[in-house]
Amino acid sequence: MAEVRIRNTDERISGEEKVRAFLDSQEVLYEHWDANKLPQELQNKFVLNDEEKEQILKTYDAEIRDLAARRGYLTWDIVALSDATPNLEELLKKFENVHTHTEDEVRAITAGRGIFIIKGTDDVGYFDVELEAGDVISVPENKPHFFTLMDNRQIVAVRLFIETEGWIAHSYSDPQFNK
Ligand SMILES: [Fe+2]
Repeated sequence: MAEVRIRNTDERISGEEKVRAFLDSQEVLYEHWDANKLPQELQNKFVLNDEEKEQILKTYDAEIRDLAARRGYLTWDIVALSDATPNLEELLKKFENVHTHTEDEVRAITAGRGIFIIKGTDDVGYFDVELEAGDVISVPENKPHFFTLMDNRQIVAVRLFIETEGWIAHSYSDPQFNK
């Protein structure tokens, strides 16, 4: 299950209901899929061929279509990142900048871990959402954030889009953010 860390106070929020309530208060959607639906051999695999990506999408077809119907997503795909990804360091450097999109950024983690750093309301400031397999998150449009990997540097996620152009990153320079 996801865990939240508020950067200003180092307060941690855990437990599905508390995490959901906090993220709700920040207008961040949080849901959870059954990570064990995925065939065992795909639960720990981070280099995927097209067939395996298709298998993941098929496994979660009902969940994907339900989310898409509720929230208007029209296309989806699989992203897999690990130390085997060419130019991972460069990619992470590119990722690790606060930015916004005109479309929400939705990710359903199917294997591994990842972390979203999000600018909350003024009283909260920036907070981290640490995600693991089964966690589904949507960062609202125009909310400053960035995504990066955790120490294990391995993740597989479903990405859903209304239109792929909506997901272009606009950098957001914020003197209040310090890493
Ligand atoms: Fe983003």
